[in-house]
Formats: sequence, structure tokens, C-alpha cells
Amino acid sequence: MTAFPLQVCGAFGRHAADYEGQAGLQRGIAWRLARLCRDLPAPPPDAPRADLGAGSGLLSRALLHHCPGLASHPLLQLDLCPELLARNPLATAGPAPLVWDLNGGLPAALEPAGLLVSSFALQWLEAPARELERWGRALAPGGWLALAVPVPPPPGCPAPPWSCPTPTI
Ligand SMILES: C[S@@+](CC[C@H](N)C(=O)[O-])C[C@H]1O[C@@H](n2cnc3c(N)ncnc32)[C@H](O)[C@@H]1O
Repeated sequence: MTAFPLQVCGAFGRHAADYEGQAGLQRGIAWRLARLCRDLPAPPPDAPRADLGAGSGLLSRALLHHCPGLASHPLLQLDLCPELLARNPLATAGPAPLVWDLNGGLPAALEPAGLLVSSFALQWLEAPARELERWGRALAPGGWLALAVPVPPPPGCPAPPWSCPTPTI
């Protein structure tokens, strides 16, 4: 592992106790993404499912609210930061979470995947486009990827709100 993911993980770990209190934007995006997933067809029932960069579980919890049918096959809570996973109720009460560096692709056990979701995590990876391509290629037939990622503001616009709850590295 290179120094960058360790720095990212360390920064999120140091702020883990405050994360949900400051992550209003992430909560709103997770809620909105989950709502958009309501009308998607059911993913393949027997293929693995995961929340990539799940953190404290905001997206997975929003999905359970909007798509209760997904509860029958819980999403693996995967993240590089154990301190955030320790604060994730789906990781502490459900199947064991996975501490994993997404810079190296997905764990073999997730391929082919029936459902991959991720909110505000891809931008922390060293080569987001490469990893996104890997995520897409890992999908089983009929599987789907639900993704939210912040983008830079157009030139001349003020700093984006998503920069606020992001810990300093
Ligand atoms: C802004 S938080 C988003 C967390 C959650 N998805 C949410 O919406 O609240 C970014 C997450 O990406 C995770 N992350 C960053 N780099 C990672 C990596 N290389 N591998 C796995 N997870 C990573 C962080 O630990 C953190 O939980």
C-alpha cells in the first residue's frame, strides 16, 4: 500500500467520532442515491453485494429504507478505515465488515457482483477511472452499480460544499 491511502485512512480514523455529525451533505447524497435506486430491477439474488467505501454506513442504511427488498441479502460493508466501520451499525450487527484498500481492485469474493454501491469514496482512490472500470467489469449479468461522486466546481465558482466535512490529510 502506498502512503496516500494510509494518510486518507488515518485522517478519517482520527475524525471517525465526528463523521456523522459533520457529514450532512454525504447523508443527503446517500439518501438521494438510495431513492433513485427504488425502481431498479432486483439484482441477481445469489451474487455478492457490497458498499464500497461504506464508512459509517450512510448509503447502506438509506438503501434499506428506500429498497427494503435488499434486506434479505445484506451488503458487505467494505472500507479501509476500521474506525469508521466500528461506528457502522450494519457492520457491527450484520455480517463481518471488510477492511480493504480499493486501490487494488475488489476482493475476489465479490466477483461477479450482483450489486455494488458507493457514495463519496471513489474520489479518494489513486486512480478513480481505473477502479471504476474494474467495478463495472466485476458486475454479474443483471447486476448494477449505484455511484455518487463529487465533482470539481466549474471555474469561478466557490469551493464545493463537499470539501467541508472532509478531514484534512
Ligand atoms: C467521504 S467518506 C464516505 C463514506 C460513506 N460512503 C458515506 O457516504 O458516508 C469516504 C470513505 O472512503 C473510504 N476510503 C478512502 N480511501 C479508501 C480506500 N483506498 N479503500 C477503501 N475505502 C477508502 C474512507 O475510509 C471513507 O469511509
